[in-house]
This record gives sequence, structure tokens and C-alpha cells, in this order.
Amino acid sequence: MNKITDQLGQIGIIPVVAIDDAASAEPLGRALLDGGLPCAEITFRTAAAADAIQKMSAAHSNILVGAGTVLTIEQAKQAKAAGAKFIVTPGFDAAVVDWCLANEMPITPGVMTPTDINQALAKGLNILKFFPAEVAGGVKALKAIGGPYVGVKFIPTGGINASNLADYLSLPMVHACGGSFMVEKQLIAAGKFDEIRDLAKMAVNIVRLTRS
Ligand code: 3PG
Repeated sequence: MNKITDQLGQIGIIPVVAIDDAASAEPLGRALLDGGLPCAEITFRTAAAADAIQKMSAAHSNILVGAGTVLTIEQAKQAKAAGAKFIVTPGFDAAVVDWCLANEMPITPGVMTPTDINQALAKGLNILKFFPAEVAGGVKALKAIGGPYVGVKFIPTGGINASNLADYLSLPMVHACGGSFMVEKQLIAAGKFDEIRDLAKMAVNIVRLTRS
């Protein structure tokens, strides 16, 4: 396990963010830090992603900022240039994975099936995003799919919220969870950073309670 994925595991919950206006990156980072959540996955679902990664990293050196929804090598390059410390992809893309490995960029590719997991293992990766977690069958599916893969850890993402976070975190094969529930796009757009801070706090509390 490398240092970055190790840190994500310790934090336990990764806020998955879609930012329309990169100017929100600084106050969003502040809200996450105040809520006790020193990481963010900024997704390439919006055109502002690279700029937002750059701005959040520059404003808050103590936040582990990564890039999500990376679909192409070009986006991976943009993410690295902007200062992203890790990359997350929704599915398994061998070309993007190879680029990340060659460029010493920690990569968590998305998997949903045993075949996907085999492909990731063949590249030497053993911390994988399980996506879309809830639609793919949730905790029950992850238990069954992950069971044979001793040593593989998952970051379930997709449909995780305050009500099911603890169930996922209780599984031995779960490294951390990802979710947008504490950083919803509308809250960011409306500048409701106090609300985001409080939601982050709540998520961090669930992690603490589940792991204590
Ligand atoms: C992602 O981009 O990884 C997911 O869409 C996040 O899923 P959620 O919005 O259901 O938390």
C-alpha cells in the first residue's frame, strides 16, 4: 500500500465533488478541513475540475486532493499537472492505469465484477473502487464479490450516504468509502459551506464510531 492510499484508508470517507466554479474550491476545502475531512476527490464531470484541483491544492496544502471520473490519459495528465495526488476512475481502463503506473500516480480504478478485479490484480493494483456500489448490489454484493480476493481492498462509491456508510465500513474488505452526500453540487453552488462542514463532521463521526 502506498502512502497516499494509506492516508485515504485512515480518513475512511472520501468526498466526491463536482465543482462548476473553481472559485468554490478554496471555501469548500476550508469547510472540509473544518469538518475534519482532509481529502477530496474532484471529478472531471465538470470543465472546472483541473482548475479546482489546482486552487484547492494551492489554498490548502493539508488536504489530499485527487481527481475523479478520469476517463482518458489526457485528463490524467491534466490532473497531475494541476497537482492531484491520486486518480480515481469509474471503470477499469488499462491505458489510463498504465499511464498512472508509469507516472507514479496512485490510481484506484473502478471495478464491479470479478473479471474487472482480475484485470486490476494483473496490473499489481489491490485497492479498487467498487462502483456503483449500491446499484451493483450493495454490501451483500461486495461481500460475495470480494470474498475470494483475499488481500484486495475496496472503496465502495455510488449511493453511499449517512444511513449505509457504517454498514460498508464494517466490512473487512473496505478500505474507505467514497460519496457525494456531504458535498452535494447544489450546496456548493449555493455557497452553503457551513452545511457542508456539518455534513463532513457527521460523516467523520460515523467513521470514528464504526472503527472504535
Ligand atoms: C462517483 O462519481 O464516484 C459517484 O457518482 C459518487 O456517487 P454518489 O454521488 O452516489 O455518492
